Amino acid sequence: MKKFSVVIAGGGSTFTPGIVMMLLDNQDRFPLRTLKLYDNDEERQKTLGDALAILLREQAPEIDFSYTTDPEAAFSDVDFCMAHIRVGKYAMREKDEKVPLRHGVFGQETCGPGGIAYGMRSITGMLEIIDYMEKYSPECWMLNYSNPAAIVAEACRVLRPDSKILNICDMPVGTLRRMSQIVGKTPAELEVRYFGLNHFGWWTSVKDQSGHEYIDQIRDYVAENGYLTQVEVDTQHTDPSWQETHRKAKDLLAVAPDYLPNTYLKYYLYPDYVLDHMMEHPEYTRSNEVMENREKHVFDHAKKITAQGSAEGIAFEIDAHASFIVDLARAIAFNTHERMVMIVENNGAIANFPDDAMVEVPCIVGNDGPEALTQGIIPQFQQALMFQQVTVEKLVVEAYAENSYQKMWQALTLSKTVPSAQVAKELLDDLISENGDYWPELH
Ligand code: NAD
Ligand code: LMR
Repeated sequence: MKKFSVVIAGGGSTFTPGIVMMLLDNQDRFPLRTLKLYDNDEERQKTLGDALAILLREQAPEIDFSYTTDPEAAFSDVDFCMAHIRVGKYAMREKDEKVPLRHGVFGQETCGPGGIAYGMRSITGMLEIIDYMEKYSPECWMLNYSNPAAIVAEACRVLRPDSKILNICDMPVGTLRRMSQIVGKTPAELEVRYFGLNHFGWWTSVKDQSGHEYIDQIRDYVAENGYLTQVEVDTQHTDPSWQETHRKAKDLLAVAPDYLPNTYLKYYLYPDYVLDHMMEHPEYTRSNEVMENREKHVFDHAKKITAQGSAEGIAFEIDAHASFIVDLARAIAFNTHERMVMIVENNGAIANFPDDAMVEVPCIVGNDGPEALTQGIIPQFQQALMFQQVTVEKLVVEAYAENSYQKMWQALTLSKTVPSAQVAKELLDDLISENGDYWPELH
């Protein structure tokens, strides 16, 4: 089998060790000849890079492993770039979550004003790595799961329309794992129909290969328990704040019971509830939870491996739930025609939605990229919510491209999470000052 050369952009990410372990676990399906890490924060990446170098030397010496902050070294001779960057890192995520609270609006990583602020930062970082990839390895594909995926995908569509970028999110995968547990199947045995935007969608069908439809059974379960399952099936979304989010899905279902909701809809359908909840501990948000848990755990682990000079007895956990990234790489490399939920330009997939919207729908992925499967006409309730949200996402990208304060103000005003144009303006001025040079200048 052909062996591949991969660069992970955002090498210092808390997810890097889990992804590397997952890649090692999938060598029979997707063998590597070279694995590189690339980051623009040398020190952060070095902590993980040193530990992973030891681990790879012990467990997969045949793979040529290195880490670098030099774009030419990173992006030369690569077949795939797996991108998970966080522009501004956790310090800025914390601001995305806390600045809106000063204005009576909840703060979140990808939804509402926090996601809009993060989007403005991410576009610059994404364009930078896309350009490096195209300069040094023009045939390379980028498998991007950097957030906020909806705004990043729209920015790619508008600003790099011909680039080989596949935008994908783990949330449909994570929730499918929960559904499969609810009905006693494995995720691989189930096939879904789904429509929406990223972090803003609904499942309309969950069938097994014999054609048996499980949506009623799952609906009954979710109406009682949300997506909370008896056995923990998803290693990433397990902290207390996520348990609360999985439970809240039952209230999302109550609003529109025909289809199964994406958990992120809680931020749009119950923003008052989210705000009240956050205001109980405004100094301690999701970023604090991640910094205290995942980030500390991953970096402490890496330091231990390096100090002991061996990974024996202190292996990183495999992010098994991330194996969809290998499925995606294999779909491109081996033309597998894998069916995957991806973020793509609509072009009729949702019949009553604009062609140029970036939507999240099941696709068949082969060596030319994804082909969207048509999801037909969607109900007016979902269509209206999606139209409002997609317009916010488009306005953010237009504001970025045109340096437009006006469009950014409109984006925040239109967000279902912000109560008025007055609050939107005050928030915008605060976000501009907190984001400094991470944002383009708006005038
Ligand atoms: P992190 O802060 O630990 O890691 C991100 C890394 O990106 C940092 O080391 C940072 O220095 C680096 N970086 C920032 N800007 C860069 C640039 N311009 N070039 C190169 N490197 C750059 O963050 P994390 O929590 O590990 O998350 C990483 C990303 O993955 C986030 O965007 C997160 O939202 C995303 N994520 C996506 C999914 C999904 O399925 N869509 C799931 C989990 C995480
Ligand atoms: C993460 O940091 O895990 C996210 O990207 C999603 C979240 O809030 O858990």
